[in-house]
Amino acid sequence: MNMNDLIVKKRDNGILSKEEIRYFVEHYTGGSIPDYQASALLMAIYFQGMNEEETYELTSAMRDSGDIADLSSIKGTKVDKHSTGGVGDKTTFIVGPIAAACGVPIAKMSGRGLGFTGGTVDKMESIPGFRTTLEEKEFMELVNKNGISVIGQTGSIAPADKKIYALRDVTGTVENLSLITSSIMSKKLASGSDAIVLDVKCGDGAFMETLEEAEKLGRLMVEIGNADGKKTVAVITDMEQPLGRAVGNSLEVIEAIDTLKGKGPEDITKLSLTLAGMMIFIGGKAEDPEQGRKLAEESLRSGAALEKMRLFIKGQGGDPAIIEDYSLFLPSTYSVEVKSSTSGFVQKLLAKQVGLASQHAGAGRATKEDAIDMAAGIYLSKKTGAPVQEGEVLATVYGNNKEKVQAGARQLLAAYEIGQKAPEKKSLVKKVIGI
Ligand code: URA
Repeated sequence: MNMNDLIVKKRDNGILSKEEIRYFVEHYTGGSIPDYQASALLMAIYFQGMNEEETYELTSAMRDSGDIADLSSIKGTKVDKHSTGGVGDKTTFIVGPIAAACGVPIAKMSGRGLGFTGGTVDKMESIPGFRTTLEEKEFMELVNKNGISVIGQTGSIAPADKKIYALRDVTGTVENLSLITSSIMSKKLASGSDAIVLDVKCGDGAFMETLEEAEKLGRLMVEIGNADGKKTVAVITDMEQPLGRAVGNSLEVIEAIDTLKGKGPEDITKLSLTLAGMMIFIGGKAEDPEQGRKLAEESLRSGAALEKMRLFIKGQGGDPAIIEDYSLFLPSTYSVEVKSSTSGFVQKLLAKQVGLASQHAGAGRATKEDAIDMAAGIYLSKKTGAPVQEGEVLATVYGNNKEKVQAGARQLLAAYEIGQKAPEKKSLVKKVIGI
């Protein structure tokens, strides 16, 4: 087989065979296909697209490029949750303990953040002492003992995606339905869970900006998950503005703990209960998603979910005292208040701009090698729809580097659009696919 023939075939809108797709994945991962040829093929796929069968084959080839986790020593139906990426999305720390409290084992592998979206692993590392790398045996033991463990994805899971995603990131080929599907689902299918709940983000701060595109992505991922024998459900949710009020690593963990205490912002509480309800249902612990949601609510009310969070943190070496005492997180030295120059209502709060402002304040990385300031981030006092007076604080930017905090604050101002009329309220959960 010849890589040039594959590029030309896709460029001319041909359909790649299973063998051709496997040839590309195996040889690019193995190093015998150079980046320039892989980039050309990815760009041809970006413009010409792939049909469902090609997408399935690409996903399977990427799944098979490394190890497939064997979680069979963990009792029960293991349910995974994945978000396609958003700003302020700390739901893993809420839905994980809730689902575990309702008897659904959570054995999850998560990633780090790059660009304007944060990563679960970085957020977990803001908890003093917390270990995100565990030996397989300890990981399984913790899930059997506490019902929950979340670790960083090991390099042996879908290594093809690691290489291809890094190339897509610098060649303008991220935002393609088949490439996103194969990237996410190859990792999910290799991670060993029995069922998957996908939170497909839609809007300004998401890869899929329109509901139509997000639905297509959700449908494709559900079909591929089910075809691989894993019950898969997709929930399409809004990402026009950040989730909750906190953006940045330790700030988000604190907001997640507040939510588990029943004191979280309305949007994050609602979304978490919806996703957790779905996980409890497909994990076989409820008759339908609504009953799952009720069980989720009860676990918040009774404190059972908060107790699972305590066990989760303790099990992985973190200091569980942070649950009561937030001053145990690394502090930030600087803060800048961003104030409104006019009165009115917040018309828009652009999620992507907020994510970039948080990244610039020190909470995220511009390159993989960058160090993260765990205390950096943003607290949003005003979100879309809120009335605001001239001179009132819209948000506060935190961090340990004065210049970075100031840069974040300047960027944040561009995220706010203030107008005279209160905007229409948009629904947070737009659609469920696969039920
Ligand atoms: N998240 C992934 O893991 N891959 C993509 O392609 C997009 C979002």
